[in-house]
Amino acid sequence: MHLPRRPRRNRRTAAIREMIQETTLSVSNLIFPMFVLEGTGLKSEVKSMPGIYRFSLDTLLEEIKEVTDLGIKAICLFPNYSEDKKDKHASESHREGTLYLTALATIKDKFPDLTLMTDVAMDPYSSDGHDGYVENGEIINDISLEILGRMAVAQAKAGADILGPSDMMDGRIGYMRGLLDAEGYSNVSIMAYTAKYASAYYGPFRDALDSAPRFGDKKTYQMNPANAREALVEAQLDFDEGADFLMVKPALAYLDIIKALHDNFDIPIAAYNVSGEYAMIKAASQNGWIDGERAMLENLMSIRRAGARAILTYFAKEVAQVMNG
Ligand code: PBG
Repeated sequence: MHLPRRPRRNRRTAAIREMIQETTLSVSNLIFPMFVLEGTGLKSEVKSMPGIYRFSLDTLLEEIKEVTDLGIKAICLFPNYSEDKKDKHASESHREGTLYLTALATIKDKFPDLTLMTDVAMDPYSSDGHDGYVENGEIINDISLEILGRMAVAQAKAGADILGPSDMMDGRIGYMRGLLDAEGYSNVSIMAYTAKYASAYYGPFRDALDSAPRFGDKKTYQMNPANAREALVEAQLDFDEGADFLMVKPALAYLDIIKALHDNFDIPIAAYNVSGEYAMIKAASQNGWIDGERAMLENLMSIRRAGARAILTYFAKEVAQVMNG
């Protein structure tokens, strides 16, 4: 056969394949989400997320030592609060000395070089299990902003490097940016959950935090999975309001959204490889139905290929272990 173009020539040896590889994945791209809970000496596995644990602060610090020794440079912390700490106003989210704020301050003190990201939303602290303030069954945007603003300033004060508003209220990026700047925290970054979809893939995370909504769903604030153009509107708003990163969540079913934001905005795009995406690979690989390690790396590479620089992933530790050989 006379074939002038034979793409297989570029795949012939491992050296050539590596030489021309378009996308790379490195541990420095990864942010490891971790869960803290009240008590001491605790380490409890999340049933739907094999290998992922909720730690009390003392055991969390030991785990973070291991995580940073592996070369991971960023974590995102989420709190698990017992029911008796929750109320309609998420008061525990900004009260001085609370579990989460103490954990942030302690981690920052012990690991000053670790990039510490937070979660800004009401659900872990809310007796309604919603990300915003509820009145007569409705999520009230502007009252929610006031609570989220107090939470953001408290987290900045505790030593957070990057705030992660995951609440999807309108106007929250600009509102928080204004408060942070006024309070002297102009160096604290905001990674906006820009296009956060109302997704089935958050199920295992809600198990981890016991934070499922007590009524209804989150469709009046999280986006409709059918919409892509709406993500550009959200992105433009977050960009104009001062976000430092634009995040897409979940990642795998929304690679087109990651790509669209990457093509249209010149600030770093991030993606959240969420709990359900982790659980699917774990479940299949535990059954011997899939090669979990290869599937993990392939998925993360595809998220990078779509245009994400930073990836929040529960696989961060495993990736670091694989890469360290
Ligand atoms: C809520 C929040 C959620 C996640 C991060 N922050 C879940 C939700 O919106 O119900 C999900 C993360 C994951 O599934 O890994 N503020």
